[in-house]
Amino acid sequence: MKPLRLGIAGLGHVGCGLIELVEKQDKLRLPGPVEVTGVSARSRGRNRNADISSYRWFDDAATLAGDDDIDVFVELVGGSDGPAKFAVETALKAGKPVVTANKALIALHGAALADLASENNVDLLFEAAVAGGVPVVRALRDSLSAVEVSRVSGILNGTCNFLTTEMLKTGRSYEEVLAEAQKLGYAEADPTLDVSGMDAAHKAAILSAIAFSADLDFSKVAVEGVEGVELLDLTFADRLGYRIKLIAEGVLTEDGVVCRVAPKALPHEHPLARVNGSLNTVRVEGEPLGAVVLTGPGAGAGPTASAVMGDIAKLFTPSARPAFGRADHHSGRPFTTEINDERSAYFLRVRLEDRSGALAELTEALAAEGVSVDKLMQDSADENGAAPIAIVTHVCSNAEINAARKRLSGLSSPIDAPLLIRIEAAA
Ligand code: HSE
Repeated sequence: MKPLRLGIAGLGHVGCGLIELVEKQDKLRLPGPVEVTGVSARSRGRNRNADISSYRWFDDAATLAGDDDIDVFVELVGGSDGPAKFAVETALKAGKPVVTANKALIALHGAALADLASENNVDLLFEAAVAGGVPVVRALRDSLSAVEVSRVSGILNGTCNFLTTEMLKTGRSYEEVLAEAQKLGYAEADPTLDVSGMDAAHKAAILSAIAFSADLDFSKVAVEGVEGVELLDLTFADRLGYRIKLIAEGVLTEDGVVCRVAPKALPHEHPLARVNGSLNTVRVEGEPLGAVVLTGPGAGAGPTASAVMGDIAKLFTPSARPAFGRADHHSGRPFTTEINDERSAYFLRVRLEDRSGALAELTEALAAEGVSVDKLMQDSADENGAAPIAIVTHVCSNAEINAARKRLSGLSSPIDAPLLIRIEAAA
């Protein structure tokens, strides 16, 4: 069998991981041989874990993408625009299939790139863009294509999950644990993308587009990260029976698909509450399936490179299957911003001045908007005279909690901004 010739652009952790897999392909279960024909990266001479001296070097990713000697263009450059996008477009226009791990690119331009792939009758595959080594993209797109999905949810950022897990487990600070996540290779080159929730939002948008045959529109995705979550919140929540995690979800509503990312408090017994460290997990709910959960390493060179190689393996028998499953992805459901009749319980943390009446003012503000307290916990004031308080509310409506949120911002005694996060219902 003729080898499948790869052009790899981007030689960071994942690119080098892929080269390692190419080198040990005899041990893998690929349908045929693969070889690296050309590579491209920002700097040729950089110290890497891979020996690239025998490959043709290209200064420019797009030139590699259009080269006659490659059968597959592998894009591991990253970034939603710029060289990555141009190179992918070049490959597709040249009739070459593309494998990419670039979630920002697919989340922002996936619909147009899928069109380009279809016009040129080639595959655009991006398993590694979502949840690293967890094979969720093609599971959703292909194996679960007969399931009417109602919700897809999960933990899609390993760095944030590592942060919330490790801070609680070890009592270490946010900064310390984030530095470790960077050292371990979980975090993006710019870790703001992780902690702001943006990385998870890119992935959630991609999953939602596939799961609901929706017209991908990243501008409608609501994104909140973990920057506001402190060790205090994690410990309070834990004492009250919850784990705080960054949860990404896509929900089918009458008005369209609501896709959002935010910290949530999960009851200890919730299956997602037990997914710790850098693990990712995706739960797909729908009929006639019920629910299926896929969990595994969502970050790191090895797992992500294995997902890239899995896509490459698929290209021995190219199918030019529409990238998001359905050819008519533009006429699918719209992305929309709110679940109108949503009701939920909330975890609220505030710090109040340690004086009489401060707590009463807080609970009165909640009561005035019909938000009722289920559990309440207060610790002694710290050295600055700030008394930390955590409240679990009863289930209330969006309108009630939004009005209460407004009242909280007008209280006379809070020391800093309150943290208010949704509590996930038991699974
Ligand atoms: N930075 C990502 C994460 C890994 O922490 O999950 C790649 O998507």
